[in-house]
Amino acid sequence: YVIGIDLGTSSVKSILVNQQGEVCAESSQEYPLIHAKTGYSEQNPEEWVSQTVKSLKEITDCSGVSASDIEGISFSGQMHGLVLLDENMQVLRNAILWNDTRTTPQCQQIVREFGDTVLAVTKNAVLEGFTLPKLLWVQQHEPELFAKAAVFMLPKDYLRFRLTGSIHMDYSDAAGTLLLDVINKNWSEEIAAQFSIPLSICPPLVESSACVGNLIPEIADQTGLSTDTKIVAGGADNACGAIGAGIVSHGKTLCSIGTSGVILSYEEEKNRDFAGKVHFFNHGKEDAYYTMGVTLSAGQSLKWFKETFADGETFEDLTEGLGELPIGSGGLLFTPYLYGERTPHADSSIRASFIGMDETHTKKHFAKAVMEGITFSLQESLEIFRSQGKKIGSIVSIGGGAKNPVWLQMQADIFNAQVLTLTSEQGPAMGAAILAAVGSGWFESLEDCSKTFIGTASIYEPNPEAVSSYRKLFTIYQEVYGNTKEIC
Ligand code: XUL
Repeated sequence: YVIGIDLGTSSVKSILVNQQGEVCAESSQEYPLIHAKTGYSEQNPEEWVSQTVKSLKEITDCSGVSASDIEGISFSGQMHGLVLLDENMQVLRNAILWNDTRTTPQCQQIVREFGDTVLAVTKNAVLEGFTLPKLLWVQQHEPELFAKAAVFMLPKDYLRFRLTGSIHMDYSDAAGTLLLDVINKNWSEEIAAQFSIPLSICPPLVESSACVGNLIPEIADQTGLSTDTKIVAGGADNACGAIGAGIVSHGKTLCSIGTSGVILSYEEEKNRDFAGKVHFFNHGKEDAYYTMGVTLSAGQSLKWFKETFADGETFEDLTEGLGELPIGSGGLLFTPYLYGERTPHADSSIRASFIGMDETHTKKHFAKAVMEGITFSLQESLEIFRSQGKKIGSIVSIGGGAKNPVWLQMQADIFNAQVLTLTSEQGPAMGAAILAAVGSGWFESLEDCSKTFIGTASIYEPNPEAVSSYRKLFTIYQEVYGNTKEIC
């Protein structure tokens, strides 16, 4: 057996997986977010440790599997969060998370002083969520505390440190700090020097499937696990989500519609230049990358619509019969910018819109328009990938968007690609389990492991007529941003 641990934003999920890739036990434990001020989002790292220990104990207790049969453990984690430790390895302050937006002035400073170099070296645009702006915020607002910092870590790296006593960071997570030279795979001395970040606080870098230690005896006692079990580094949650959906070889692309939406595509070509319009991160697979575009309010837009206009209905009620409505919802168009948009506009002030209402429209037309608008927004990311020469013929769909056949067909028609669903969806925790399996020597490669662990459930083919109708509507959709920007 192996264990995959996904340290998420609201909870930690641990799964116990056998050699066929079946989940034999799982446990999720929650922890709170701390919003001390508007835009602040923090967590107490101690809670990650105690809740993970609880989830591991629950797994060993309820599965009846003996500790010596668990060969490896690995991790997936929320990206970008800043954990600062002093020289005694004590946490200096609460972790500042990926969804904390206090760092706009620091982002402006980075762009102003060193923007071109940061983009060239890190291959990513400067965003509030990333780690470097958070380091600058602490440096400027809590200088005494920053002076005491001996090491910085990302959330799952801190968790792994507490479980093993050793300090590492893997490339896939380091790629989200804005301090990593993404192509040469080392900390950028240039960027660190420019912003007076001592290189000594940057942890040693490793591959996601590297074995990095063993559990310390105290944790083994508390969880019922063995100190012989291999601990494998693990990766960023988006990299692990990709691995857990089989996005580990050329041509593979993922569409995930949860609260937010993600289009993520495997990439081996390191010289492709997306000019920071989409994220470009190291994958959990050695010398591979992935590109990623994000729709901030994806499933959240449909949830908002349901709660506001169809209170008391289930998603099934609301989406029933939508397949019979015309493509384009009878001229009704929605842009899903309820909280602004990340890709392609990186604009936090733009707001959503319904356009083209007429008296024949019913609540159902609105629901379908919301689903189409979310999918158009994801298509904008896909267009950026394709505009740089990527060939995307099939896309694995996961999350809420993969539960509804009408939405799946809509994805195939808007993306003009075959859309596949999976037999079992475990998200990033499965990616962590696959890294543990490969790191433990069960398989030669992530590709081999995913062939055993991941299966296709259904395939939706694009319908040429619908593809062409959606193509026309998509051009109109793309005009809405520029035309509504000024009024928001
Ligand atoms: C990625 C990002 C989020 C977090 C969520 O850039 O900010 O997806 O990784 O956990």
